Amino acid sequence: MSRRDHLQQLRDASPAILPSLLICDFGNLAREVELLAAAGVRALHLDVMDGRFVPNLTYGMPIVEGLRRLTDMTLDVHLMIEEPERYVQAFFDAGADLLTIHVEATADPGAVLSQIRELGMGAGAAINPSTPLSQLTACLDQCDLALVMSVEAGFGGQSFHPEALARAREVRQLAPDVLLEMDGGINQTTIQSVAEADVDLMVVGSAIFRAPTYIEAVDQLTSLARAGARGRAS
Ligand code: DX5
Ligand code: ZN
Repeated sequence: MSRRDHLQQLRDASPAILPSLLICDFGNLAREVELLAAAGVRALHLDVMDGRFVPNLTYGMPIVEGLRRLTDMTLDVHLMIEEPERYVQAFFDAGADLLTIHVEATADPGAVLSQIRELGMGAGAAINPSTPLSQLTACLDQCDLALVMSVEAGFGGQSFHPEALARAREVRQLAPDVLLEMDGGINQTTIQSVAEADVDLMVVGSAIFRAPTYIEAVDQLTSLARAGARGRAS
């Protein structure tokens, strides 16, 4: 399967829960992936942070390479790094299927998105709640995926920003076929409204990794997301 085929697989799976690997147990990554696969997860959301674009530092290509060797699940890599154009080739080589840059982090997001597509990955653009939505809508034509953040990027465990819902609806209006993703503060209380806003991919960190079992949390979140998808304004 080509890397871009993962886009269609995720579209078919919509609404889909993507665990965010930020607070998982990195000392037992193989076990974590096994448990997530057993919980029915189809894609992993990898939070790459550089300590510059966001005031937090996580991991880079070696962890992506390690995960690529561990699983054939879709690797959805969220780059929260300055000038991501410097590392597009390196994350392709590491095995990323989808690569999402922040529109705030580069002078020409459209050019970086084209660079990602030319290598054969799914190209994603992310935007923080405090950034004018026009910075994302300006490059929607070059996007396979649009990530409307529901927290300011940088940390897990933050509270959900409800204004992200209207922003997601606006993006959906402008780009009916884009894979629409939301990330930050999504849990059993907020996920139904996220699905109602026609979001395809819900990234979840704390509500999975702080739960007693991953399978129970993913089950609950999936049924709430499906209820929300059924409630979409037809
Ligand atoms: C924040 C990351 C999110 C975060 C989600 O910058 O992009 O993926 O880890 O974690 P929760 O679900 O706990 O908000
Ligand atoms: Zn993320």
